[in-house]
Amino acid sequence: MTAQIGEGRIPGGSNEGQTLFDHEHLATTLGTEFVSRFFRLLRGATIYDRNNELIDRLTQDCLQAINPVIKSEGNLLLKIIQDNFFLNNNRIPVKADKYTFFKSFSKEMEKRWIGELEFSGEVSGKILKDFVFILSPLEGSDESNYLYVQKELESRGIQGIRVGKLEFFKDNKPYADSEEQKQYAKEIYFRSIDLVKEVMEGVKSQKLLNIRKAKHLMQNAVNSIMQDESTLLGLANIKNYDEYTFNHSVNVAIYAIGLGERLGFPKKILSHLGMAGLFHDIGKTRIPSEILNKTEKLTSEEWTMIRAHPVVGAEIVMRVKEWGELSTRMIDAAFEHHLKYDLTGYPKLARKRNITLFGRIIALVDFYDALIRPRVYRRYPYVSEKILGLMLEHAGKDFDPALVKVFINMIGIFPLGTLVLLNTNEIGIVVQIQEEPELIERPKVCLLYYTDGEYRKGKIVDLKEMDEGTGTYIRSIVRTIDPNEYNIHVAEFLI
Ligand SMILES: [Fe+2]
Ligand SMILES: [Fe+2]
Repeated sequence: MTAQIGEGRIPGGSNEGQTLFDHEHLATTLGTEFVSRFFRLLRGATIYDRNNELIDRLTQDCLQAINPVIKSEGNLLLKIIQDNFFLNNNRIPVKADKYTFFKSFSKEMEKRWIGELEFSGEVSGKILKDFVFILSPLEGSDESNYLYVQKELESRGIQGIRVGKLEFFKDNKPYADSEEQKQYAKEIYFRSIDLVKEVMEGVKSQKLLNIRKAKHLMQNAVNSIMQDESTLLGLANIKNYDEYTFNHSVNVAIYAIGLGERLGFPKKILSHLGMAGLFHDIGKTRIPSEILNKTEKLTSEEWTMIRAHPVVGAEIVMRVKEWGELSTRMIDAAFEHHLKYDLTGYPKLARKRNITLFGRIIALVDFYDALIRPRVYRRYPYVSEKILGLMLEHAGKDFDPALVKVFINMIGIFPLGTLVLLNTNEIGIVVQIQEEPELIERPKVCLLYYTDGEYRKGKIVDLKEMDEGTGTYIRSIVRTIDPNEYNIHVAEFLI
């Protein structure tokens, strides 16, 4: 006998009390199904009334994801902990194409301060509707919302549904003062730059390296990105002319963590990605700074030296013992980050080998960061659209095409900190990317106005806002502007 969920069938016999689903299937397929259907129903309930036909359909869809699990497992428990989802205590791995969907769902639940839903008995359409229509209008980020829901359920005689409060780790409250969070992210960013500097200089003078501190910083960076990626990504997007290598290393770490998060990596692996990013160019410590900073054309010997930095880097990494379990990944990232997806690039390989996922991630984000910022020999950097275009063009050849897609989604066509001209003739700076991929062209923008000889911060506008009368967008981006042309220091407006 098989139970049916949507188009997919669930394998297995159904003897009473016997578990039908293996854990992976439970979390991956059924967990994703449940969250998708429940969220659609919840959203539907904010728009339509309970007698609407669409609500009926969404309710039925959702029941089909709930009841088979209850039948097999006895209950269905969804827990949300720090943007991670668990179905009956198995983590639901979130695929990249579902990332924004899950993120919006967790935001919706966060708003209601609800972190647990449990069904422990077969659910009927009427009961599910009752429940969703109690849940949907909740607002005001009230910590005791869950008690209110419990009471409402009781008063209607509904048993077998329970909600729980959203729990946060101690320095991890929702809406924790966002200013505070920004400051924290900023601190991590600049401390990481100092640390890379310290470690790189330590390599040169053969001092002991402070790897523990680096690991700790990367764990903090992961937490900060998981809470709110905009500040760290924003900092990484700011083009800084000084101390290229240090800045670049931290940016590569941040982009790599952000990308890994979207691929659903667990926290530990994310912090490893951060470490790999932080020290991918460690081999450059052996290249004299005159060569690194040379503005004239490089001689062929100098090129050879530069091209040796991945191998030199891998050697340096190998000699350091403190990496512990990180060691292989650090070596991979250092060695592979200038290899292309089709195995061209450098170092030249004696025999074909697969590039590791770590290597592919670091190579991609390294390319982006290297082109987006001004260098001694390239005063004006490429604009982001151009680089993302290049990436798409070279996807499958130079870069892993799947990673390119996820990366572009993360950065947006107009990354944080991009200076843009709007159709209203206003100019502004992109300060927030929309969650929904289809709104990638409609970020939130901080308007700038010119007064007393300088640009100042104006209000923040949301480009997805429409004029109700005409049904058209109020503002749209016409094109990006080079901040150098207008003498605008983007960093001052972004942080
Ligand atoms: Fe490099
Ligand atoms: Fe690099």
